[in-house]
Amino acid sequence: MLRQTILWMARNQRVKHLVETMPVSSGIVRRYVPGEDTQAAVVAARGLVDDGLHVTLDHLGEDTLDPEQADATVKAYLDLLEQLSAAGLARNAEVSVKLSAVGQALPEVGAKLSLENARTICRAARNVGTTVTLDMEDHTTTDQTLATLRELRKDFPETGAVLQAMLRRTEADCRALAYEGSRVRLCKGAYLEPESAAFEDGVEVDRSYVRCLKVLMAGQGYPMVATHDPRMIAIAGALATRHGRAPGSHEYQMLFGIRPEEQKRLAGQGEKVRVYVPYGQEWYGYLMRRLAERPSNLTFFARSLISK
Ligand code: FDA
Repeated sequence: MLRQTILWMARNQRVKHLVETMPVSSGIVRRYVPGEDTQAAVVAARGLVDDGLHVTLDHLGEDTLDPEQADATVKAYLDLLEQLSAAGLARNAEVSVKLSAVGQALPEVGAKLSLENARTICRAARNVGTTVTLDMEDHTTTDQTLATLRELRKDFPETGAVLQAMLRRTEADCRALAYEGSRVRLCKGAYLEPESAAFEDGVEVDRSYVRCLKVLMAGQGYPMVATHDPRMIAIAGALATRHGRAPGSHEYQMLFGIRPEEQKRLAGQGEKVRVYVPYGQEWYGYLMRRLAERPSNLTFFARSLISK
């Protein structure tokens, strides 16, 4: 119930407006979002890469209905890619893009505009020697996002996708995407979804995650195991061994600020570990999804709101 309320707040414009006046340096925001500008993102990436980790950077923003805002997001990614390259980080850092941040939700033109915008980002990523992964948003966007992925992969076959184990359709999507050259980031799913589309019980979501892992690890693609859950990580490791997958033929991924010691422990064992680093001013939706996963952080969050 609490999770659902927080996820409802994540999409409520009035609550968003109130919360966004909080300075980003407030403890709870800073825990999950290292900063607001490209420079802060590059500094965070540098620190993680120096610790033996890889990164994927997300310029925060979503659900835009303004073509100029979508354009500004594309420019932010181009600037980021240029600066990652200048800092010598492009080999260890890729970018993650939400199609709704580059125009997908715009009536009529959304599919075409977001495809063209994503294509521009993919081209810039290719030019500096890195890749793009398309984030996955709520289930109403899954078909469109996978259609955009198919189009992008014609020119940029290195483009990755995210699949969400909480959706009932995802095991089938894993089968469709477990082919050679395909990169799939498997996560549990962070959005408020109807029961018709998603498993609601955590145990069911975990079971689905394991079924999806089995498909991806047995397949020919490159699985990206995006979870902080120790059981899922252990099962992924066992499946990788069972299928004779060497370290480097799959990777583990976690979010910035969550289980940093585990990130380093896995990397220390020779596993490839990538940290998802969100940055920017539009941190509200992202932060609310993190709070929904960890309601115990709510007290801390409420205190920082009151003391602003
Ligand atoms: P679970 O929520 O069961 O947590 C397992 C353990 O991790 C917890 O017991 C706790 O120790 C720790 N933990 C988890 N969340 C925490 C938090 N917020 N604060 C502190 N500790 C926490 N989702 C989506 O819908 N679309 C997407 O594109 C992506 N992209 C993405 C990329 C990457 C790299 C990751 C790691 C995750 C995503 N997600 C996502 C988010 C994902 O769907 C999911 O909501 C979170 O990863 C939390 O789920 P876990 O698998 O970690 O398990």
